[in-house]
Amino acid sequence: MARKPMIAGNWKMYKTSGEGAILMQALESSVSSMWDRVDVVVCPPFTALKSVSTVIELDRLNIGLGAQDCHWEQDGAFTGAISTRMLTELRCDHVIVGHSERREMFGDTDQNVNKKVKAVFAAGMVPIMCCGETLNVHEAGDAESYVRAQVRAGLEGLTVDQAESVIVAYEPIWAIGTGRTPTPEVANDVARTIRATIGAMFGPPAAMEARVLYGGSVKPENAVMFLREPDIDGALVGGAALNADSFTEIIEAAL
Ligand code: 13P
Repeated sequence: MARKPMIAGNWKMYKTSGEGAILMQALESSVSSMWDRVDVVVCPPFTALKSVSTVIELDRLNIGLGAQDCHWEQDGAFTGAISTRMLTELRCDHVIVGHSERREMFGDTDQNVNKKVKAVFAAGMVPIMCCGETLNVHEAGDAESYVRAQVRAGLEGLTVDQAESVIVAYEPIWAIGTGRTPTPEVANDVARTIRATIGAMFGPPAAMEARVLYGGSVKPENAVMFLREPDIDGALVGGAALNADSFTEIIEAAL
């Protein structure tokens, strides 16, 4: 089965609850005609999940709802953390796990990322697991082995069914928010390495089915370039997902 393209918007620490609802209403008319050909997911901050979820429900939008992180325990004394149980109650269906900003600034390790990936699946949601190398690693020519190790650690112990539905986002850290990007060919080489790693761990069907997204300075002007690469199934978009027009243009590029 051909992999359905996915465009996911990571809003990061932007948009209040009210602002998030307004952005959803602006996205509504454009996205409603395209959902059967492309999966669209928005990932607002925790505090905007409820208002965004309400717009999706009331307006019957075919847009997925994702959180930007979670804890791996169901409940507990973890001040400031949010569990998968809290997210499913708000109708989340996806969770971004292991974003480089969480790894760099909030101490996410490969081991924690793996626990979160498993917790997301156990709750019936789908993880969007991020990986990607620093500029130093990139310049040393070690991106593929670095990313392979992150994928091996992050997906360790999944079932074959879970591996088939997993989403891995390749986000070179040096491309995030900088306007710099790898060439589409280089991004596709890493995406192919990710797919091959999934194949080596879980078998060829999982490699065929799992979706690999590219993220890092994806804009309306460059989206098509990445999206037409054979091993890139979509994009994880930061800045350009905060505006209805630019996000819509990127969704259109996926068609
Ligand atoms: P930008 O699209 O702003 O570079 O962010 C990418 C990203 O980190 C998405 O998760």
